[in-house]
Amino acid sequence: MINDLHLRDRKHLWHPYTEITAFEGAQFPIIERADGVYLYEVGGRKLLDGISSWWCVNLGHNHPRLVGAIWEQAAKLQHSILGGMSHPSAIRLAEQLAEIAPGELTHVYYAGDGSSATEAALKIAIQYWKNLDVAGRTRFISLEDGYHGDTLGAVGVGYVEQFHKDFTELLPPATRAPSPHCADCPCGKVAGECEVDCFTGMEELIRKYHRVTAAIIVEPLCQGAAGIRIYPEEYLRRLRRLCDEFDLLLIADEIAVGFGRTGKMFACERAGLVPDMMTIGKGLTGGYLPMSAVMLTDKIYNTFRRDGERIRTFYHGHTFCGNPITSELASAAISVYQDEDIINNSQPRSKQLEAALRRLAEPLQNSTVLTLGMIGVIELSPADGGSARATRIAAKALEAGLFIRPLGPAVYLWPPLTITESELDDMLAILKDAFIATA
Ligand SMILES: Cc1ncc(COP(=O)(O)O)c(C=O)c1O
Repeated sequence: MINDLHLRDRKHLWHPYTEITAFEGAQFPIIERADGVYLYEVGGRKLLDGISSWWCVNLGHNHPRLVGAIWEQAAKLQHSILGGMSHPSAIRLAEQLAEIAPGELTHVYYAGDGSSATEAALKIAIQYWKNLDVAGRTRFISLEDGYHGDTLGAVGVGYVEQFHKDFTELLPPATRAPSPHCADCPCGKVAGECEVDCFTGMEELIRKYHRVTAAIIVEPLCQGAAGIRIYPEEYLRRLRRLCDEFDLLLIADEIAVGFGRTGKMFACERAGLVPDMMTIGKGLTGGYLPMSAVMLTDKIYNTFRRDGERIRTFYHGHTFCGNPITSELASAAISVYQDEDIINNSQPRSKQLEAALRRLAEPLQNSTVLTLGMIGVIELSPADGGSARATRIAAKALEAGLFIRPLGPAVYLWPPLTITESELDDMLAILKDAFIATA
């Protein structure tokens, strides 16, 4: 049964972010169902989901309220165009989002997945300045090794060399500040013991390019795909201050870290600031179906109103944006985050995660441990085996029943926020054994 599925998979299915040759030779897991923090392979073996199924299943798998919301809405209204019409599910969700978003991010523009939310946010920023008749604001400043999705506009602001090098000819010229990479500090400082000197690079770019810059886009507090680079809140606060000083729009890409991952509903709240636009996705639906959105202020939204004879419509939209099933699902997910007090209840788990990773890293030499809410990473130094060891650790963990996906030398856990103490203990015990077995 399993072999047959493997053969059929290899014949027709092309997997994202997966090297074909190595994959063809592998006995990769084939998951047929999931529940809570467990993935169940065809054949019955269960695996702990250490990465919330690509950073999105924050509320655990098979949550009855989320599954119920999909069923109920599917039987009522599956699709209704949002261009020029509306429906109650999209309206209710927009109200809920406006209520939970920080500050005055009261308008919601629905998109399909994270990448399409990035595209929408970038285009809104460009058109915003045109709406105001401010010429030349057509560039973006972002962070080196940032990641905002795989569509071309998103790659233009979020280039990761390993992923995107073949497409450089197609990308708009971008201005990138040095990555605040605490495990390999560009300023030679030690994580947690610095004055955020790395912000100087960003500051220089802002001072130089603010007149041609439409917006700055960053992943707040954690550059995920770069290798779970958790960076100081102060970096973001300084960025907000400079954006205010130079009248720049700040776009916070909360697609990965939004919805409780950092210990607050949104990472920007942790840093105590409000961006001008915020992109959300992944955990918005509890990770069950694709949906994303851009949240923005009145100040931006109102520039898109008709001005006498001048039409300033945002000519941008996706067939499935704000569709009733995903809207209803996201609405239910937000209620679950609130009713089950998911974020507060995860606080003891994040302490447990941090303490265990620190213990685990004690015998290591120069590796760095960083945690942020329910994200915990050990970035292995070359002396501790680097990327090659990280790959072996993942393989050992998988044999023992834990699914993780290191990013280069970064071995990390990003478990569902609903994980219990004993489930997290099990995850950490398997990870520890995998470290020991690969030492
Ligand atoms: C910070 C960030 N932005 C955008 C995206 C793109 O989202 P999607 O994969 O849904 O297109 C991701 C995906 O991992 C992400 O981590």
